[in-house]
Order: sequence, then C-alpha cells, then structure tokens
Amino acid sequence: MTIPRLTSSASYSELKSKIQDRQARVAVIGLGYVGLPLALLYSEQKFPVTGFDIDERKVSTLQQGGSYIFRIPPTEIQVARAQGFSATSDYSRLEEMDAILICVPTPLNEYHDPDLSYITNTAKAIAPHLRAGHLVILESTTYPGTTEEVLLPILEKENRKTLKASRGGATDQQQFYVAFSPEREDPGNQTVARRDIPKVVGGLDEKASELASALYGSIFNRIVRVSSPAAAEMTKLLENIYRCVNIALVNELKLLSLRMGIDIWEVIEAASTKPFGFQPFYPGPGLGGHCIPVDPFYLSWKARECDFRTRFIELAGEINTGMPYHVLESVAKALNQHKKALNGAKVLVLGLAYKKDIDDLRESPSLTIIELLQKEGAQVSYNDPYFPAVGKGRKYDLHMKCTPLENLGQYDCVLIVTDHSDYDYDRIVRESQLVVDTRNATHGITDPKIVRC
Ligand SMILES: NC(=O)c1ccc[n+]([C@@H]2O[C@H](COP(=O)([O-])OP(=O)(O)OC[C@H]3O[C@@H](n4cnc5c(N)ncnc54)[C@H](O)[C@@H]3O)[C@@H](O)[C@H]2O)c1
Repeated sequence: MTIPRLTSSASYSELKSKIQDRQARVAVIGLGYVGLPLALLYSEQKFPVTGFDIDERKVSTLQQGGSYIFRIPPTEIQVARAQGFSATSDYSRLEEMDAILICVPTPLNEYHDPDLSYITNTAKAIAPHLRAGHLVILESTTYPGTTEEVLLPILEKENRKTLKASRGGATDQQQFYVAFSPEREDPGNQTVARRDIPKVVGGLDEKASELASALYGSIFNRIVRVSSPAAAEMTKLLENIYRCVNIALVNELKLLSLRMGIDIWEVIEAASTKPFGFQPFYPGPGLGGHCIPVDPFYLSWKARECDFRTRFIELAGEINTGMPYHVLESVAKALNQHKKALNGAKVLVLGLAYKKDIDDLRESPSLTIIELLQKEGAQVSYNDPYFPAVGKGRKYDLHMKCTPLENLGQYDCVLIVTDHSDYDYDRIVRESQLVVDTRNATHGITDPKIVRC
C-alpha cells in the first residue's frame, strides 16, 4: 500500500476522515509489552504503522522480521512488515505521522517516587517534530495530572511552530490534539481478546476526545469516554489500586488462616459461589509485574501535594512486600521439620516470571525470594521455561542459568513460586523430597511432602 507522505498541517475533519478510512499514519513510541502489540493491532486493521524505540536492538530485530516478546511469534512481525509496518529510532519521521501513541515506561525511582523521565524525554523528542493536526495520546500509567502538567507544557513550549494544544480556542492551523488513554492489557490472559477490553479515553477537549475515540474505535469494540485526561489517568490507578488492596487483604487472611489451620483457597472457592458482591482475589508469594507493585505509589506521591495520605495503599504495600519474607520463613520451617537447616540446603525455585505463563520478570517476587534464600546460605537453583538465564536487572544481579527439571530428589526443597501451566505437578511432588507451594499449584494432590504457604 502506498500512501503519500504528508507533512503539512491537517485539519480536524481531514484527520477524522483519514482515521475513518484507515489512512491515518499511526506512530507508536515505546515498543515494549504494551506498544508492540498495539502497533500490531493497528497494522492488522490495515493502518500504516511505524514503531519508534530508542533501543536499537529492538528496532533492528523488528526490521529483520524478528520478535523479542515470547508470546508474539516472528511470523506476526513478518505479516505486519508485509503490511507496511516498520520500526525506527529516528524521531524526525514523526512529521509524517498523524497520530502518536506514547507507551514508554513509568517506573519508580530509588526513593519509590514516580520516575517520569521516560515521558519527559519522549515529549522533548516529539516537540521539535510536532505539527498542526497531530493527535498525541499518552498510554503510560501515571498519576492524574501528568498529561496536562508534564507532557503538554513540554510539547507547547518546545515545538518550533508556536503550536498550542486544542482547548476549544485556537484555529486548526495552530493546534494539535492531546488525550490520555490507559493501557489495560492483562499479559497471559487468553480469555479476553484485547479488542474486547473497553478503551477509556479522556481528551483535553471535545475534538481531542472525538479523534482519540475514532482512532481507538477502529481496533477496540467499546470506547468509554471520560471528561478529562486526569479522569482517565485516575481510572487506571483505581483499577490497579483495587487489585493491590484486595490482594493484600487475601494475603493477610491467608496468614491468619495458616495459623488457624484453615485452607484459604477452599474458603475463596466457596465465597466465589456467591452470585453478587464478591470477586475472588488470590494470595501469593508477593506482588510482581510493572503495574500492581508500582502504580499505586504514583497516586500516593501525588496525594502528598494535596496534603493527603493514601492509607489503604500504604497498608496494602506493607502487607504485600512482606510476603516474600513469609515464603522464606515457610521454607525454613519446612526444612526444619525434615531436621535440615536452610543454611546449606539445596533449594530449587520453580518459576521466575511474576505470574504464570508469561515471560516477564519485572518486580517478580521470585527474584526477591532467591536473594533472601541466598542470604541465608541456601544453594539456590531455578527452573523457568521462559527464562534460559537471568542476569542483571534494575535491582538484582543474579547471574543464574535455568536448571533442567531433572533429578528432583537431589534438592532438599522444591519451592513453587510461579505456577506455570507447563509444569507436571504430580511428577514434581512424586520425585521431590519436599515441596513448598506458594500458589496452590498442587491443589488436588495429597502428599505429606507438600507444604502450602
Ligand atoms: N506490561 C503491562 O502489562 C502493562 C499493562 C498496562 C499498562 N502498562 C503501562 O504501559 C507503559 C509501558 O509499559 P511496558 O510494559 O510496555 O514497558 P516496556 O519496558 O516493556 O516497554 C517500553 C519501551 O519504551 C522504550 N522507550 C523508553 N524510552 C523511550 C523513548 N524516549 N523513546 C522511544 N522509546 C522509548 C523502551 O526501550 C521499551 O522498549 C508503562 O507505563 C506501564 O505501566 C503496562
């Protein structure tokens, strides 16, 4: 498909019809777990798509038709390439684009405060190439106010044409459009297709909301419009804080149930039969992933500006971060029952990923648990079909290689941290001396070797 290069200003109605005709050129900035699948979705829907990333290795892998995300096979990239998808690190190419979707990371810094440097760097890189008629949408999870207080001022101050964002005032020739729309993907979830996840959109003004809704309406089945970017930013945080707080609640109740000799999993299963007013959340070895352990702290940080303490978030954080220590204690106790010390014990950790069936170990509790076990003198090995090796991360420097799932009897303890579906739990229990299970993965297997914690 050959579409003429368009670098001149586009009016609101021109852009809207280009979106409707699937002729709008879509730029996705940040080709990670969120950005790459999003770019592929637009490509599938026959939009001309260009991906931008500062990581040259990712750009060159994609340009060669390869993939670096486990669940995206290279064939999907090749199909997109044939459809016109390309990847680049050259921001000047933004001038050819119509819509710019920003999917860059939003981590916490070493003081547990929001690190918005990826967003500000991206805004600074976009600004010189901004033109009238551009639609800029932030998708990264962040605190309410980021789009208007952080992204927008950089775009307005640092563009070369004195362009302003559309707020219902400026003329078409001078304005660009800005919105926020949170990414709601659930990695590894095979039950809901991405296009069936309703897309929340909050534009800076009516025109921006309309354009963003039209763009997302091409790939998502339902668009939920809210009144402002801040409302959309807060929506995403509410969703993640809701999960974080409820997970903390079941984690705390699990600790109590263990003392009382009650099986919390059985209780959750029974409570889930209530047809209204109850949604199940499950306990585990601690929070992981880029979202749930991180995003709530974006709000608590912002809340301080309003002289407000987000106590639920802080309490949930305290309980959830304590869970890896509970796992450590459980392994030590279980070994003690076998008249063994943790110091010197051979422990095999099953699963590095922060949840089952995915290749993402960001903030994974496994990493914390391995480190805690090593500090106590345990000889730790790991197995995870998604990670042949683990090197240096932001917080960890493990340098370990995946151990084959053989000869399980040699370990003093096999510790299930991630309940990947590929594992044969019957076999694992049969061949091991002791199994400590943090996920109820051995549900239905009765054996005194199993310690559920
Ligand atoms: N991973 C998820 O499941 C998920 C779900 C919902 C929301 N989110 C949010 O989406 C955002 C992105 O998360 P992710 O998981 O895709 O992160 P990621 O680390 O997988 O990908 C981010 C990409 O952005 C690139 N990048 C960084 N700075 C850049 C710049 N200035 N210009 C161009 N590219 C740049 C990085 O090289 C990387 O490829 C975050 O705010 C996250 O909280 C993630």
